[in-house]
Amino acid sequence: MENELINLKNNALSLILEAEDEKELEEIKLQFLGRSGKLTQAIRKLPKIDIEKRKELGVLANEVKETIEASVDEKKKQLKKGILMSKIRKIDVTNPGIKPQIGHLHLVTQAISEITSIFEKIGFVRVRYPEVEWDWYAFEALNFPKDHPARDDWETFFIDGASHKKYGPMLLTPHTSSGQIREMSNAVKSSVSGEISPIKMLNIAKCYRRQSDVSHTPMFHQFEGLAIDKNLSIVNLKGVLDYFVKSYFGEKRVSRIRPYHFEFTEPSFEVDVSCGVCNGQGCSLCKDGWLELGGAGMVHPNVLKNTGIDPDKFNGFAFGWGVERALMMKDGLEIDDLRLIYSNKLEFLEQF
Ligand code: PHE
Repeated sequence: MENELINLKNNALSLILEAEDEKELEEIKLQFLGRSGKLTQAIRKLPKIDIEKRKELGVLANEVKETIEASVDEKKKQLKKGILMSKIRKIDVTNPGIKPQIGHLHLVTQAISEITSIFEKIGFVRVRYPEVEWDWYAFEALNFPKDHPARDDWETFFIDGASHKKYGPMLLTPHTSSGQIREMSNAVKSSVSGEISPIKMLNIAKCYRRQSDVSHTPMFHQFEGLAIDKNLSIVNLKGVLDYFVKSYFGEKRVSRIRPYHFEFTEPSFEVDVSCGVCNGQGCSLCKDGWLELGGAGMVHPNVLKNTGIDPDKFNGFAFGWGVERALMMKDGLEIDDLRLIYSNKLEFLEQF
């Protein structure tokens, strides 16, 4: 009996060694360990053997069974590895590969870099200021009265619970004009005996307002210019506007300013750009030949005072426009729904 078991084991192991695929291995397993397999049959004879010898043979039979099972598993693993190796050997590394898709900058990012480089050429410096800001910078120091509608919950996003003794509640910047206050306050901090260095700031940032419809998204971008110096005038402002309009929209386009009202500029203007489709003649896009770009004006003396600048010594101008709006006016892009810009739809974005 002992010899029989050892022979069975050797027999099985040599078959396993020779096996060429998984199917053959399964058959070998069945042949020895199946219901009527050779080992199973040998084990059935055990009860007839006397008790002393039976124990010993039982242990041996078990060992044989385990060895066969382990060898089958090991051989299976080897076979799998072999298949993989032969597949790898078949790969032709000289075949042309699959090109990964290459993306590009988002159209708003493209517009921001173009706008930045236009203003940099005439000495404006791009700055970054907080987009989560105190009321002081976004409203109070900009001369907004306490009951101004923009300070309402329904216009601006306020941060729950955050409030500063001097600077008031915290909010998401509804415009980039908060950057004016930051910039002027910084200039005062680094001034020497009341003499600030002239400012030429370009603040481009995200703005947030409670609005969402075909022409508004709750998050959008503005670019804000601020120039502070001695004896600046509306002529300087108009010169910068014309320079930008021609550089960004094209040589044929011109700007015009219309009287308007902002709390933080006096006088204040709305800036229009001549329509690129009809060249200012009037068409279905613009109606009267002009497209509205955004606000501008001469910095209000109260704003200068609030940041510690002497309005008798310094003055300046500011302007603030929407990046998305400028972008759409430039290319005559007629996007039915502005929200599409931020929808992350590749079919849309790939066009730019
Ligand atoms: N902050 C104003 C707005 O969001 C625009 C503006 C900026 C107007 C600078 C005048 C000067 O509408």
